[in-house]
Amino acid sequence: MKRVFSGVQPTGNIHIGNYLGALKQFVQLQEENDAIYCIVDMHSITVPQDPKVLRQHILDVAALYMAVGLDPKKSIIFVQSDVPGHAELSWILTCNSYTGELSRMTQFKQKSKGKESAPTGLFTYPILMAADILLYDADIVPVGNDQKQHIELTRDIAIRINNKYGETFVVPEGQFVKSGARVMALDDPTSKMSKSAENPHSRISLLDEPSKIKKSIMKATTDSEGVIRFDIENKPGISNLLSIYSAFSGLSIEELEKKYDSQGYGTLKKDLVEITVDALAPIQARYREIRDSQELLDALKDGGQRANAIAEKTMKRVKDRFGLGL
Ligand code: AMP
Ligand code: TRP
Repeated sequence: MKRVFSGVQPTGNIHIGNYLGALKQFVQLQEENDAIYCIVDMHSITVPQDPKVLRQHILDVAALYMAVGLDPKKSIIFVQSDVPGHAELSWILTCNSYTGELSRMTQFKQKSKGKESAPTGLFTYPILMAADILLYDADIVPVGNDQKQHIELTRDIAIRINNKYGETFVVPEGQFVKSGARVMALDDPTSKMSKSAENPHSRISLLDEPSKIKKSIMKATTDSEGVIRFDIENKPGISNLLSIYSAFSGLSIEELEKKYDSQGYGTLKKDLVEITVDALAPIQARYREIRDSQELLDALKDGGQRANAIAEKTMKRVKDRFGLGL
């Protein structure tokens, strides 16, 4: 059995990009692996958060985890800050990483663009992520494409420490889905769908009502060619809609191109509305059942304890290697 680890930040607006790029594979991977899924609340405070809202978002994401099909009997589901090992290991990794490699991270460059000074947490964010992964000896890390660079950094740090201190960490591999690994914004298909974009029609959130989903898809930016074919460079809007359609329906892009041969964009969009609404309906129903339940709190508490037991073992091993403590 392989160890699988991944995490999602507890911010609002979890969208179909998060679902198709990450959450959907979390569910598949829990069947045949030893899977651990985290709600990474300490990552989310790299930007300002309202404490009351943050607590609610932690529960929102936990409920969505379970609503999409994560089962606390099969996977460990827990909140990052419940396990002290993440912060502890993060410091040790910080002392074995370089400002040069962190400066090259695209996410940091984007978030600090044009600023003379940025919060240190934004800079060291990828190290905390490396700590999350290495703390659990993860073999596989299912994530969207945007996290590729962070996984590479995690591998580099693990290999560096293994070389210097002897075998300490499992070197993890990222796992990316074929369709859905990079869902683009509906209003601007050249940038990725994001939780924080101002325009709510740029994304479809997992909890959006059917009328909102319809509006967002019908408004989605396309092109004036009028031909339905997959061509990211020249037709990023239509290609994005086809990718989403393919990921939700299981039909391949080629099958979709055939199905919509000589049809208009309106037809494609209408069908995509239906497919999306139908895919999200059971998730939304389960979410409403679980969000305010004791079952959810119990799952997180139990998950935190199980995660901590694994983390403590790793920390003991790491401290031994580094000669920390007695
Ligand atoms: P985050 O919301 O940044 O915590 O991301 C949670 C997971 O969703 C990560 O695995 C991301 O790589 C993935 N993800 C975020 N945005 C997208 C997107 N637009 N398309 C595909 N995957 C995404
Ligand atoms: N950085 C990831 C994101 O923004 C979230 C994350 C934090 C994560 N720690 C992780 C993902 C560990 C996988 C493994 O999407």
